[in-house]
Amino acid sequence: MKGGVFASIDVGTTKICTVVGEVLPEQPLRILGVGIAAANGLNRGMVENLHDASESIRSSVEQAERSSGTRILSAHVGVTGSHISCLNNRGIVAIPDRERPISQDDVSRVLDGARIVSIPTNRDIIHAVPRYYIVDGQDHVSDPIGMYGQRLDVETHIITGLSTVLQNLTKGVESAGVQVETLILAPLASAEAVLETEEKRQGVVLADIGGGVTDIALFVDGSVYHTAVLPVGGNHLTRDLVIGLRCPYQAAEDAKTLFGHAMASAIDAEETVELEAFGAEGRKSFQRRRIAEILQARVEEICEMIMREVRRAVQDDILSAGLVLTGGTANLIGIASLAEQVTGLPTRVSAPRNLQGLVDVLCDPAYAASVGVLQWAVREFEAGALHTRPRPFLVPGDLWQRVSRWVRVLMPE
Ligand SMILES: Nc1ncnc2c1ncn2[C@@H]1O[C@H](COP(=O)(O)OP(=O)(O)OP(=O)(O)O)[C@@H](O)[C@H]1O
Ligand SMILES: [Mg+2]
Repeated sequence: MKGGVFASIDVGTTKICTVVGEVLPEQPLRILGVGIAAANGLNRGMVENLHDASESIRSSVEQAERSSGTRILSAHVGVTGSHISCLNNRGIVAIPDRERPISQDDVSRVLDGARIVSIPTNRDIIHAVPRYYIVDGQDHVSDPIGMYGQRLDVETHIITGLSTVLQNLTKGVESAGVQVETLILAPLASAEAVLETEEKRQGVVLADIGGGVTDIALFVDGSVYHTAVLPVGGNHLTRDLVIGLRCPYQAAEDAKTLFGHAMASAIDAEETVELEAFGAEGRKSFQRRRIAEILQARVEEICEMIMREVRRAVQDDILSAGLVLTGGTANLIGIASLAEQVTGLPTRVSAPRNLQGLVDVLCDPAYAASVGVLQWAVREFEAGALHTRPRPFLVPGDLWQRVSRWVRVLMPE
């Protein structure tokens, strides 16, 4: 197993999170540093104001550089937004020589073939994820290298995004002084961080409910079958409270995060909380159950949207492992019980785990995509699918004396 230092940037609607991690031979990923900045200039996962977005990214990157003692020259970047769309496509190649086993070269050829799909000229392919291979009709081969066969097929999950949105994201990161190594789809990243192998095998849908969007990734038979991004998230819950309670946005956000509950029936009708409100009185007291009712209505709607998306792709009875919720909004108390009621699927809330190093802040559902982008990049690199190799970064003169460990992160070859 190869090692190295990797950096990832999760550009979310509410926060930008940069993570630096190190992989050493035969050891789990160790987090060296994290930088979190409030996101400005972003809406529903997409750049809206390039200057503000870039400043937020810069601030998050600088924090991560300080906490890790590394210099981040380039990074893997998470991408989301409702411009994302997906399709499944098959690639086929002939293996002319019967005496020769299938090689890496054949696998690369068949994967290249699967990428030949007709997509509108204003879209780019972000990923062509191999789901499984078929060798002379033998289904569900996970690794065909070394096998004998005359025909090799691959089933791939292809994800595309609007070229201009991808360009704006890339520009935002590059204006912050960081080169983009690869763009990684946020739903796949979150799945990488929080799903168990057994869940993917038995059929599961992951929903990362963030601030502006809900990222969906559906797995069947161990591989990704469908991905989607819905333009709805926790910010809608807060906005509903602003309207329902007639209070400022920050008071509504506090009401949601400090006193919120997704199941109104679980709250005592007499319980009240004091919050800042519009009007002459300033502060007012609100029934906690009323807050929960507003939140419940919106969470139910989000769950129904998730199920509509699931049913567009598969019959929901094949999802034996049910629904896994992550993203900041998955912190809402009672959300798993409500989701279970609405969707009829077994539901759990999950956060990144099995990390080492500076992990305290990252073990929260809000950081599933941030950690997942890093884990996805590391896995692709180990599998030889990424052609970059991190090398030590030498810092000149006096800085070198002062800084014990500067590394060049993911410098392209
Ligand atoms: N305890 C909590 N209860 C309810 N909601 C919460 C709680 N903690 C955080 N949130 C919400 O989570 C959302 C932010 O989640 P997250 O950090 O996953 O979003 P993001 O990655 O910045 O945005 P996106 O993925 O939508 O682009 C906010 O709307 C915030 O209010
Ligand atoms: Mg997010």
